[in-house]
Parts: sequence; structure tokens; C-alpha cells
Amino acid sequence: MADKPVLLSGVKPTGDLHIGNYFGAMRQQVELFREGKHRCFIMVADYHALNTVQDAGEMRRRTYDLVMTYLAIGLDPEEVVLFKQSDVHTHTELAWIFDTITTMPYLMRAHAFKDAEAKNKEISVGTFNYPMLMAADILLYDAAVVPVGADQKQHIEIARDTAEKFNRVFKEDIFMLPEPYIMPDVAIVPGTDGQKMSKSYGNVIPLFASRDELHKRVMSIVTDSSGERPQNVYAIHKLVRSEQELDAIYAEHAGNYKTLKEILVEDLDRYLAPMRARYEELRSELGIVEDILAKGAEEARAVSERKMEHVKRAIGVA
Ligand code: ADP
Ligand code: TRP
Repeated sequence: MADKPVLLSGVKPTGDLHIGNYFGAMRQQVELFREGKHRCFIMVADYHALNTVQDAGEMRRRTYDLVMTYLAIGLDPEEVVLFKQSDVHTHTELAWIFDTITTMPYLMRAHAFKDAEAKNKEISVGTFNYPMLMAADILLYDAAVVPVGADQKQHIEIARDTAEKFNRVFKEDIFMLPEPYIMPDVAIVPGTDGQKMSKSYGNVIPLFASRDELHKRVMSIVTDSSGERPQNVYAIHKLVRSEQELDAIYAEHAGNYKTLKEILVEDLDRYLAPMRARYEELRSELGIVEDILAKGAEEARAVSERKMEHVKRAIGVA
């Protein structure tokens, strides 16, 4: 276990999770953990989320929700260290150290900062420094592989630059250079209105919707297809059933959108039910989630504090 390369990823507890998140990202992540080729860490990036989630109840609810969701979709806490960023103080501590060796013009080139600036948004210092905290998240664990979506690639490059700069300034090879692993682009899951399913468009099918809720959402799927086959219904359907089977079903019920949607409700429900049941179970036993996070924090602290001792010696404060 100890000599496997480290894989680390972080997820912000900011969204109500939907089937687009699941089929587009979370499922692949869990498969990657299961391959067993890495020593895996997954972190709930609550301090990163604090830039936008500024309500205690919401932060707590979303954090628990994210952890329960990962557990419900099959993440095994025995195989993956699952922890909260705020539980491991070395992250913010190292981010400060990185702040002192990084220039403002360098961080001003970050996409997230440039986008916010272009839109004339008010930018918190936390948003500006976001990449430094993320560099700390990654470098504390000697992460070799960091699976992220394409939009996060620049952050990994910043972490690499920061590792190099630190090693150069303090003349010691303390940090390893991480590699991004851009998760293969899976097909975009359409929402009920045919645009990309996204929490910001109000067109989602929640991952743990009840059967009634699934029914309601599926019935609202827009079916303005030109042919006999409702494209948006089919695109969601093929996530949970083979195209071969679907082709027969869609031929048999050609033009009968209501029946096709009812079959989709049935199939989605069957696919999601076991995960939903596990999620409900966890919801009634929050102690399990707390125990997992406590154990994860302990393991993450042990690893990152060892690294932090080297850092402190290298900079001369210890
Ligand atoms: P949202 O668009 O709802 O705000 P996020 O941007 O938080 O979702 O996405 C989190 C992860 O889920 C990303 O890796 C993203 O690629 C994936 N994802 C989100 N929506 C979809 C979708 N409709 N189809 C495929 N993947 C998606
Ligand atoms: N910034 C990442 C995102 O928005 C989340 C994140 C925080 C992260 N720390 C990380 C991802 C460390 C990978 C590694 O998706």
C-alpha cells in the first residue's frame, strides 16, 4: 500500500448532485479508486467552497450530502482516505507559505481570476489565492496523479510551478511534481430542457430523486425531436440500458412519447434504487459519516504533518 503512487482529488460541497454529475464524473472517479493501482485520497474541499457557501447550515448539509453520496455510489472508505480539508490544518498553513513565494502577477494569470475580473465581479482574497490552497492540498501528499475535469488543468500546472519554485528557493527537493489526469470526456448528459444538465439551469434529475420525483422530472423532458425518437429521452435512457435493447423498445413504441418516458422512469428507478436506499440508510445514521471523516482526518493528518515537518525545517522555522 505505502509504495503505490498517490492519487488525490478534491470536490467542493457546492451543488445539489444530479445524474449528470454521476454519469459525467463521480462514477468514473469511483472506478478509478477501485482499480487499486493507487493509494487514494479524496478530500471535501470545504475551505475552497467557503468562497461561495457562506451559510453554516448549508455548508454542513452539503458536506454531509457529498460524503453520503460518495459512500452510496460505492466508494469504499477502507480503500480510500476520505476527509475534510478543514479537519487538516496543514493545508491552510502550507497555503500561507506558498503565498510568500508566489507573485501577484503570476496568480493574476489564473483563468478563474481573469474570468471573474472580465465579468467585473467582486473578487475575494480567498478566490484570488484559491490556487495556492489547492497546490497545498496536492503537494502535501506527494500526489502523483490528480484526476480532475479539464477546467482544473491550470490549477495542477500552478501546483507544479509552486513545487518547483519552493524546491528551488529553499534548495531542497521537498515536493514532488504532480501530473494532471484529465478524466475522459464522457458524453454530456442533457437536462430536461435539452441543454447540458446543470444545477444552474434548473433542468436536473436529482441523483437520489424518489420515484415520484423521477416521474415528474422525466415527464417534463422536452420532446421536440424531428423524427419518431425523442432524442433527449433516448440520451438519458442509454445511460442505464444498452442501445441494442433500446433500439427495439424505441422502434416498438415509435412516436409514443408517454410510454417511452414511462419506461425510462422504470429503468432509471431500477438503476438508482440501490444507491438511493444506501443513501437513505446513511442519512438516518449520520454517526457513520462522522466516524469515516474522523478516521480519514487522522490518516490525512499523519501523512501531511510528516511532510509539513520537512517543509518547516527547509524554511528554517523548525
Ligand atoms: P453543474 O453544471 O451542475 O454546476 P458541476 O460544474 O459542479 O455541475 O460539475 C461537477 C462535475 O460533474 C464535473 O466534472 C462535470 O464535468 C460533471 N458534470 C456536470 N454536469 C454534467 C452533465 N450534464 N453531463 C456530464 N457531466 C457533467
Ligand atoms: N478546485 C477543484 C474544483 O473546483 C476542487 C479541488 C480543491 C481539488 N482541491 C483540490 C481538486 C485538489 C483536485 C485536487 O473542482
